[in-house]
Amino acid sequence: MKCRICDHEITPFMSFGKMPIANGFLLPDQYDDEYFFELKPAFCEQCYSFQIDDQPDPELMFHDQYAFFSRTSKFMQHHFSEYAAWVCDNHLSGNDLFVVELGSNDGIMLENFAKRGIRHLGVEPSANVAEEARRHGVDTIVRFFGPETATEIVGKHGQADALLAANVMCHIPDLNGIAEGANRLLKQDGVLVFEDPYLGAMIEKSAYDQIYDEHVFMFSAISVANIFDPHGFELIDLLPQETHGGSMRYVLARKGVRAVSPAVTDIVKAEKAAGLHLPETYQHFRENCEASKARLVRLLQEEKAAGRRVVGYGATSKSTTILNYCGIGPDLIEFISDTTPIKQGKYTPGKHIPVKPYAAFAENYPDTALLFAWNHQKEIMQKEGDFAAQGGKWLTHIGDD
Ligand code: TYD
Repeated sequence: MKCRICDHEITPFMSFGKMPIANGFLLPDQYDDEYFFELKPAFCEQCYSFQIDDQPDPELMFHDQYAFFSRTSKFMQHHFSEYAAWVCDNHLSGNDLFVVELGSNDGIMLENFAKRGIRHLGVEPSANVAEEARRHGVDTIVRFFGPETATEIVGKHGQADALLAANVMCHIPDLNGIAEGANRLLKQDGVLVFEDPYLGAMIEKSAYDQIYDEHVFMFSAISVANIFDPHGFELIDLLPQETHGGSMRYVLARKGVRAVSPAVTDIVKAEKAAGLHLPETYQHFRENCEASKARLVRLLQEEKAAGRRVVGYGATSKSTTILNYCGIGPDLIEFISDTTPIKQGKYTPGKHIPVKPYAAFAENYPDTALLFAWNHQKEIMQKEGDFAAQGGKWLTHIGDD
């Protein structure tokens, strides 16, 4: 395959096998038509970007039944209000500001700008979540972002002071199109600010479940700098985040226009020390994934042999990679509890484990809960003290026994 960024020839370093659409929760009468593709990550030795080889058509993943609503987590609501405040305090000044967010989901971030009376526009391809954003007072158009959309926005609203994104940039195969769109959209001193799950955190924890159809890229600072450099942008700041099990906020501006924070040099140095630019790091990661799979399957089989009930907690997109890579189905996990209404009553992609409302967990505790929403561990442990107090055991696919 060719690198999506620089066209260099690249080869996947492993395969997670056949995968369904990660957010494709479904009903039994849809099993026969379920879509599968082979999930194979690759690393580009020229521009250092980490990407998946084959990706389903965007229309199969982001549509009017898209099952992901950002608002489901209180912590994430708090995070986005802080993110918005940080952008306002550090990067916006002057009158008649205009902020655009790509992949604005249910408006969880932009509502913070709307409340401040700042002109804003969400660009969101999934109609159902866009509708939810409008209900929260967030102006939203249903589109994929790119050069044409940018031109359309500039024609209607003028150029923007900031283009924001959160957990979206890594979803987009044509990042050169995004960079070109940013170029058209942003004022000369405008900023591009986005955050995504961080490659460095994934490698450190062997959290391979960050790899699924929607995450076409996992970014490092080194790769982000290389992606935007040919389009005239440079990294001016980097801020590590706790969200999604370890994320990074990237701030870019046109070269030479804004001051560069020392964090950029520091984090690039740390990435080189961790070998994020070296192919052997990914061979080692593959071995860690195989070890993690063997451990999880063994632990679940031991639970079953001991007659203990195991239930999953949080029907995350990430869990689709774990369940399908490890071959874990309803024989090992009775059901997965999830607070998202659109997922409840459906079955998990590929392995067809029932998804039940939270009450199914809370009203009849299992012996063991497999925490698929491990990225919300802090929030979940705070509210699930009773489960552990009554002898309940938590498991994750990460870590040692
Ligand atoms: P998310 O963190 O967005 O992960 P992914 O991007 O992999 O889908 O999803 C968290 C899921 O977990 C979501 O479906 C809601 C669910 N959830 C619960 O059921 N209970 C909780 O307390 C929390 C925080 C999340």
